[in-house]
Amino acid sequence: MLKLAVLISGRGSNLQALIDAGAKKDWPAEIVLVISNVAAAPGLARANKAGIPTKVISHKDFTGREPFDAAMTEAIEAAGAELVCLAGFMRLLSDSFIAHWRDRLINIHPSLLPAFKGLHVHERVVEMGARFSGCTVHYVRPEMDTGPIIAQAVVPVRADDDADAVAQRVLAQEHKIYPLAVRLIAEGRVRVANEIAVIDGAEAPTGVLVNPAKV
Ligand code: GRF
Repeated sequence: MLKLAVLISGRGSNLQALIDAGAKKDWPAEIVLVISNVAAAPGLARANKAGIPTKVISHKDFTGREPFDAAMTEAIEAAGAELVCLAGFMRLLSDSFIAHWRDRLINIHPSLLPAFKGLHVHERVVEMGARFSGCTVHYVRPEMDTGPIIAQAVVPVRADDDADAVAQRVLAQEHKIYPLAVRLIAEGRVRVANEIAVIDGAEAPTGVLVNPAKV
């Protein structure tokens, strides 16, 4: 079983997806610690309900990013976690934290990276009139929302969608690809070569999507 630490700041629906994946037969991972930098994060209740140890480490209790990140590393290592999963964790991480956890630190982002990095993704997708959006699970590198891509899902954007509608459609896919990516890593099927994540025995889908589909 691959031991996971999950870092959150809020709602925790991706954490929930990973918890729920744990109920499935042959799931090769186990969440040993959930860390939140926000004491009131609703995701903490999800972990408590599942009997998973939690720790609140508030960035406000530290003089800077480095000591805050060092406290997190200490807690993660004390729990014996081998893979760190960012799941709506809303703090930028220091280069030293990212270097320490290199290729053992993954993130989920609600766009098809490298498009739409950063915040307010769905608003920008709608403003741009993008025909597709999606989500990405990737290894973390120092530059925000970059790093080798492990899995992506694509969703169509419809003409009458607002940002919330896109967010909902994307989120449903986040909840599928985050557990998928964790499983692939836990099974030892992902390696990073020349900054590309290569997955053993993976097949790409066939077929092409065009939006507009009917004109
Ligand atoms: C998700 O959209 C994730 O892609 C982004 O932050 C959001 C977290 O949602 N990084 P939740 O807390 O997992 O519900």
